[in-house]
Amino acid sequence: MNALRLGIVGCGAISEWHARALKKAERTTVVACIDPVAERAEHLSSLTGGAPCATLAEGVARGLDAVALLVPHHLHERLALEALNLGLHVALEKPMSTDLESCERILSAAAGHPNSVFMLTENAQYWPEVLAARDLIDSGAIGEVFTARAWHHHGPPKEFYPDNDSWRFSAEASGGGVALDTGSHWIRPLRMMLGEIEEVVAITERLWDEMEGESLVRSLLRFQNGSSASFDVILAKGAVALQPHFQLSGTKGEIVITVLGEVLLFDGKDWQGTCVHRGNYMDSYAGVWRDFEAAVLDGKELDADARYSLGEVRVAQAIVRSGETRQWEKVWR
Ligand SMILES: NC(=O)c1ccc[n+]([C@@H]2O[C@H](COP(=O)([O-])OP(=O)(O)OC[C@H]3O[C@@H](n4cnc5c(N)ncnc54)[C@H](O)[C@@H]3O)[C@@H](O)[C@H]2O)c1
Repeated sequence: MNALRLGIVGCGAISEWHARALKKAERTTVVACIDPVAERAEHLSSLTGGAPCATLAEGVARGLDAVALLVPHHLHERLALEALNLGLHVALEKPMSTDLESCERILSAAAGHPNSVFMLTENAQYWPEVLAARDLIDSGAIGEVFTARAWHHHGPPKEFYPDNDSWRFSAEASGGGVALDTGSHWIRPLRMMLGEIEEVVAITERLWDEMEGESLVRSLLRFQNGSSASFDVILAKGAVALQPHFQLSGTKGEIVITVLGEVLLFDGKDWQGTCVHRGNYMDSYAGVWRDFEAAVLDGKELDADARYSLGEVRVAQAIVRSGETRQWEKVWR
């Protein structure tokens, strides 16, 4: 097989971001845009050329090798199992599911279909600035990292929070609040750069009456290697100021990843830092499809095993528990 026929299942907000990134995946063709809401399927069809379809079965009839599952979290398990049982390769958006038991059922279904590639789509795995920062850390540019800071404050973008009926506001449909949802894109880089998180202590709050899960997290993380980090995520009510995404402090210097996509190295040479990389968060989505395409067509190992993503789910759950108990909570119990 040297070309991948992909069906996009769920033609909502994130599907357009993936559609843009998929244009760079030269061996992948979108052949079906699947959504029960006809206008959404048709809109994505106009962007990708895939045939608009109402169901996965209709899409499969068009001849699919793989699906991208871009649906609300409570639908992840059902659609992932359906797609795997059809013998398709599956790229499932984060988080794997709403709770760990459901994640395990998905993983065991994937294990039962060893000929299907099963990828958990965490685009932060391919975030160019994070990869550049990790390379700097690995090269010893800032010595031993002993602490870090991750910051993600954002207003509610209309595309992801269209109205008060958004599935994101329902704890049952989303599986929680911002720690599990957008928080994963900041937790993954922390894990990539500093290793596994051992325990967390957090304050969580609900800023939005309509949202059942937490919309504010202020937390401290302790890593297995002895280092620490603060991790804040807020679905803000109003405008937000620009703050670095990440700041990593080592025994010899610091690295900052700014919201403008710069990776700044502070190693004593320039007090304003040296810009060693200028990237773009949006390029992380192209990385997803490069990896998936190579895994399916060339048999390449995925950059991150799907099981690795349970780390983000576990950290988010520990944060929520700590918000309730006001105690340090272990991530791996
Ligand atoms: N990686 C990222 O940066 C990022 C950003 C946003 C969302 N996401 C993830 O993407 C997924 C979707 O989020 P979204 O914001 O696009 O949601 P959304 O509500 O905008 O879109 C979901 C779409 O799924 C459709 N749908 C529902 N049931 C379906 C079914 N049975 N078959 C096919 N389509 C169905 C809905 O009609 C809707 O169009 C979630 O897992 C979310 O966490 C990832």
